[in-house]
Amino acid sequence: MRAATRILLSVITSLWTLTAAAQTVKIGLINTYSGPLASNGEQIQKAIDLFMKLNESKLPQGVKLEFIKRDDTGINPETAKRLATELVVREKVQLITGVVWTPNAAAIAPVVTEAKVPFVIMNAGTAFLTTLSPYIARTSFTLWQSSYPMGDWAAKKYKSAYIAVADFGPGHDAQEAFTKSFKAGGGTIVGAVRMPPPTTDFAPYLQRVKDAKPEALFVFVPAGKNATALMKGFGELGLAQAGIKLIGPGDITTDEELPNMGDVPLGVVTMFHYSAAGERPANKTFVAEYKKAYGPNAWPNFISVGAWDAMQAILDAVIQQKGKLDPDKTMAILKGWKNPNSPRGPISIDPETRDIVQNEYVREVRKVDGVLANVELETIKAVKDPWKEITGKK
Ligand code: PHB
Repeated sequence: MRAATRILLSVITSLWTLTAAAQTVKIGLINTYSGPLASNGEQIQKAIDLFMKLNESKLPQGVKLEFIKRDDTGINPETAKRLATELVVREKVQLITGVVWTPNAAAIAPVVTEAKVPFVIMNAGTAFLTTLSPYIARTSFTLWQSSYPMGDWAAKKYKSAYIAVADFGPGHDAQEAFTKSFKAGGGTIVGAVRMPPPTTDFAPYLQRVKDAKPEALFVFVPAGKNATALMKGFGELGLAQAGIKLIGPGDITTDEELPNMGDVPLGVVTMFHYSAAGERPANKTFVAEYKKAYGPNAWPNFISVGAWDAMQAILDAVIQQKGKLDPDKTMAILKGWKNPNSPRGPISIDPETRDIVQNEYVREVRKVDGVLANVELETIKAVKDPWKEITGKK
């Protein structure tokens, strides 16, 4: 081969490699794959896998998404920060997503700000998170979105309530939001307790509640196995028999765990943005696809939907930029991103706050076709994060 030809060939090869590399979008996925709280991470991963299976063909020709997965093993902010730093510095990811836990998302925020890497939060729900970086957008929820209208609703039914929450960001938000609206509606908070988030022994806390004899008990604990442990404790101590109504955000009647909770949750009323039992056609399709992929007894939950909608937003940003992601352009696309047809109903990202706007549903656990389901009874439309509405924080 002549020297000139060889040079030309090598130029073509490196150009080709360059173009191919530019078309692979590297996404850092920080998620909980191990430890006692891993069932929540599993919901995220299954939703991403299903989304990719059904939508990968919509990517522009030659464009690929490459997920670089990292395990934060649970509520571990230091680990999350180290993983995010490695993803940015070593792996040169163009976007970070995942993240079940508020403390982890808060620890990642300064890293993405410094590196100018968009961070799409798939779950973590403490209100202030989006204010920590202009590179954060959230597709999940805030605890204020559920617990504030829950307090309103509860004040019309009950005169007194006791509050029990997991002692970290989302629990603190749930407590503050519920207290504010329940009191404003004329209700009295007769007691409040904060429980360490990894605990599964709720008996000592629930005994105090039983002794205080409130009309209602408002609870937030993390969804997944923790919610099932809470429900077991509530059943065993006979709080329902003592006339205490259990209420809360939908985390405590998380759809995928309902089959493991016995009959204890029957009649429990929660406020939430997603129910697997939702009658929307987009939800029917989503649940059917989920069951086709993971088996007839598998249920998606709100965490699956947070991840599913995040993937749609990311896909749209990738398509609009033909696979060449610019961080500020990506954020501009995410601000004001809309999906009128999410499994949870119409959603959008508020351009002012980069936080999700969505319906909240009053739901009651009932038996539908022999299995427990969060049946939607009322809809509160297009709820913005009330904490930001009240405080004006952005
Ligand atoms: C959070 O850490 O923000 C979080 C975790 C689990 C939930 C809700 C919020 O169910």
